[in-house]
Amino acid sequence: MPISRGSQAQHRVILTVYRLKLLGLRKRLPFFCAAGAHPDGHRSARRGSGQPHTALRALHLNPITSPNPLPHFPFSDRLPVLVWKAGVSSILNASHLKHVAPPFASEPTVPDSHPVGSSRFLRACLRQTVDRTPVWFLRQAGRYMPEYRAVRKHHTLLEICRTPEIAAEVTITAAERLGVDAAIIFADLLLPLTPMGLDFEFVAGEGPQVHTPIRSLEHIQALRTDRTADLTYVARAIEKVASHFSKPRADGDQLGIIGFCGAPFTLASYMIEGGSSRNYIEAKKMMYAGDGAWPLLMEKLNTVLFDYAQQQVEAGADCIQVFDSWVGALSVTDYRQFCLAPTTELVQRIKALGVPVIYFGVETASLLPSMAETTADVLGLDWRIPLDQGWQAIGPGCAVQGNLDPIALFAPLDVLESRVREILSLASGRAGHIFNLGHGIVPGTPVENVIQVVEWVRQFSLASRTTL
Ligand code: CP3
Repeated sequence: MPISRGSQAQHRVILTVYRLKLLGLRKRLPFFCAAGAHPDGHRSARRGSGQPHTALRALHLNPITSPNPLPHFPFSDRLPVLVWKAGVSSILNASHLKHVAPPFASEPTVPDSHPVGSSRFLRACLRQTVDRTPVWFLRQAGRYMPEYRAVRKHHTLLEICRTPEIAAEVTITAAERLGVDAAIIFADLLLPLTPMGLDFEFVAGEGPQVHTPIRSLEHIQALRTDRTADLTYVARAIEKVASHFSKPRADGDQLGIIGFCGAPFTLASYMIEGGSSRNYIEAKKMMYAGDGAWPLLMEKLNTVLFDYAQQQVEAGADCIQVFDSWVGALSVTDYRQFCLAPTTELVQRIKALGVPVIYFGVETASLLPSMAETTADVLGLDWRIPLDQGWQAIGPGCAVQGNLDPIALFAPLDVLESRVREILSLASGRAGHIFNLGHGIVPGTPVENVIQVVEWVRQFSLASRTTL
């Protein structure tokens, strides 16, 4: 019998493991024992001690049902990172292996007893079948919510982000109040700017402002990439959230925990423009200048963003969302020339940590096929494109998240209901749809409407699956 392409991939992994063993790596790769050790799928069983994720999950391989189960090796729980750093990244490159692994939709590769298997959010990220469509919301913890406003009365936004107890509380309160299937850690996109050496503040009514925006190669050369440890308050908050949600919920589902970071373009645009921008003139000038400034900035940002994402994964994030909120300002040519490669590198490095990556942007209809080339597991869609058209543009190899217009949450209930139904019907129960908004919840949104949407998604998607 010929060796299947999937098992060839496994043999490559085994070879890599042997090679690394020869390199003298000693610690244990927990996955090889975890699959059997934690049949109940409790998050507590896979969290703490920095052990939650695995090379094999990144590779979408299943060691339990595999015809060639992998042997136990005394290995590092940071194997994927070490492999990357050892320069053999191609072997753990999920984009490469996606082609040899069986497609999720038709052949689920993670059994229900595995922790991933008990989270409908994570299963949907990996295009596995789910009992119903998972749902969460961009900016689900924010000013529209009275509980958040009450905390905000006593603390600045940055104080909340930098105090793990408060950030965790805000994250947990929003997820529980709404009854969603995933909790996104309360933090802000711009936090990594501080350890890089750029001060910023949030000015009421105007959004973020960077005190000294970067405009020259010299300034970029001076940016620091060695102080990402200053951001571990986010990881500490994730640990608290993970511990709070360590057990499956009443319906047996394990709530997903989402960490996040900015994509290099969107963060660079804040650093260069100094804040929100309409035309991105300074950022684009730097892209076009060809003096080496832009590639150096991308490289430095990727160093910091990867380290930051890794801290979050080690703390218990099940998934990382990469926000490229303003990428829609780019032409396809500019995206491909200046952003696709660094973003792909970031996505693939995070995937190699063993977690799915959601890549999100706004006004991206023309960019979707290029964004899919990053090999992100999930692409976020905004509301301007019908979900089925967006999914078609991306192709079947990627899950989708979206895409209700956040302003539809202000509509009368019958209109809102029809929009929710429309999105679910365009997704038509296909594996790999995560219900969300096309962008963040805005202040003033009625909380009860958000809760109603969760209820509808649950009801309608359950009903459609039972009638399939
Ligand atoms: O539940 C959640 O999603 C909240 C956590 C969160 C915040 N910022 C807290 C926050 C997340 C995921 C972000 C990401 C973020 N921050 C993005 C990407 C997401 C997106 O919407 O595209 C961006 C572009 C930023 C930068 C940023 N932070 C802006 C532009 C603003 C001002 C927005 C405004 O309406 O004033 C912020 C401030 C901010 N970050 C708020 C919150 C809850 C609101 C301000 C406050 O509480 O004082």
